[in-house]
Amino acid sequence: MTARSVIDSQNIPAHVAIIMDGNGRWAKQRGGLRVFGHQSGVTAVRETVETAAELGVSYLTLYAFSTENWNRPALEVSALMQLLVHTIRQETATLLKNSIRLQAIGDTASLPASCQRELAEAMQLTASGTRMTLVLALSYSGRWDLTQAARRLAYDVASGKVQPAAVTEATLAGYLSTAGIPDPALLIRTSGEQRISNFLLWQLAYTELYITDLLWPDFRRADFEEAIRAYQRRERRFGKTSEQLSVS
Ligand code: IPE
Ligand code: IPE
Ligand code: MG
Repeated sequence: MTARSVIDSQNIPAHVAIIMDGNGRWAKQRGGLRVFGHQSGVTAVRETVETAAELGVSYLTLYAFSTENWNRPALEVSALMQLLVHTIRQETATLLKNSIRLQAIGDTASLPASCQRELAEAMQLTASGTRMTLVLALSYSGRWDLTQAARRLAYDVASGKVQPAAVTEATLAGYLSTAGIPDPALLIRTSGEQRISNFLLWQLAYTELYITDLLWPDFRRADFEEAIRAYQRRERRFGKTSEQLSVS
């Protein structure tokens, strides 16, 4: 029996989010520069996107650059931006071929112009992809997202478009950058850190967390499959009792 056969194709998480962490440590272990780790992480991205699409995941969100990552050394930030431009340029054809739509969440207006251009072009080219949506979180943080949502909602309230008393959870969710995307069912974090690092704070309310000690550049197809299997062993109770779930 292959490892693949034990994955229940009827219970694939519709949305998987990943905190791709550990590139720097991976490079350090090899005596290389941090940038070498980021470059090596691209292989893991490619395999993960491919595997997710093959398994039938509808949305895959990758945390590629956080609001806080702007505080890294300027050289590392610019290397990451260059890598982003290069990778998008290189991978767009594959996304198109596999009918994968590219989307971005985050304060993308703060990215260098070259990144914005490359991103806009790739998103436009892949807009009709229906197999899976690949969401890149760029200059993203959960608090940024909640703040921009609150700001835009405040404008709509001030202009009379929205009544304060009519604001529901769904209203607020509709102003988040993830509007229209289901909340992640599974969050994977590599490199063993036990934290959210300001990722999708609202959206992760009931997400299953899967943390692996593997460093991101070492993450492969089999590791993604293992995360899916672990997810399938969980009981998602959403506040109910186990007994309630079995009588449904
Ligand atoms: C994740 O790897 C990549 C980004 C945050 C852009 P890190 O660069 O954080 O690697 P570590 O955590 O220092 O090992
Ligand atoms: C989280 O990783 C952000 C991304 C993976 C893009 P970090 O390496 O920035 O997280 P912290 O700072 O260790 O929490
Ligand atoms: Mg890190």
